[in-house]
Amino acid sequence: MDTPNCTKLKTYQGLTFEPYIESDKIKERVAEIGAQITRDCEGTVPLFVCVLNGAFPFASDLIRAVDCDAEIAFIRLKSYEGMGSTGKVKEVMGLTENIEGRTIILVEDIIDTGNTIVKLIDDMKAHNPARIKVATLLFKEDALQHKVEPDYVGFNIPTKFIIGYGLDLDGMARNLPDIYVLSEKDKDKENV
Ligand code: IMP
Ligand code: MG
Repeated sequence: MDTPNCTKLKTYQGLTFEPYIESDKIKERVAEIGAQITRDCEGTVPLFVCVLNGAFPFASDLIRAVDCDAEIAFIRLKSYEGMGSTGKVKEVMGLTENIEGRTIILVEDIIDTGNTIVKLIDDMKAHNPARIKVATLLFKEDALQHKVEPDYVGFNIPTKFIIGYGLDLDGMARNLPDIYVLSEKDKDKENV
């Protein structure tokens, strides 16, 4: 019998990754969040805003787990490097929909420091939506540097580097159906 994919180690750039969250568990959790959003959004037609690239598998599964009328839009964050000590400046690209008065559900793959989501919420607010909710598959709560509380969280995880199901290492591993964590033995090589 074949060993299930999720029991195998993965190697990228000489780093070893171990299975962390299996696709069945992700599916189960996404279904629960979908049901929660269905209840919460009664009487509204939410606009899901998927933050590319990482959130595409989560957004795709989540919107199909929601049993109400909904729309989806995609945005991308453009990062500028080399801004001195301030680090990266991000600009939202691609939102053409009129979001005034709408219920927005920002869909993220992961919240780490919170820099990205805080910037996104601020940019969205400028367009006067009725409300902004945040759905993130993963939340590294210990790494958070802002006062922001996601409305829907798939999994709370420790501050470890993970890949798969949309999350990447230099563009690789987004296509893995399961989520993997960087092996403890390679922890000292981490540079994210
Ligand atoms: P934040 O702005 O620090 O919250 O980070 C958000 C972004 O950092 C995510 O959208 C990811 O692109 C990236 N990121 C944070 N943690 C990880 C990880 O463990 N694996 C892969 N990408 C990550
Ligand atoms: Mg992302």
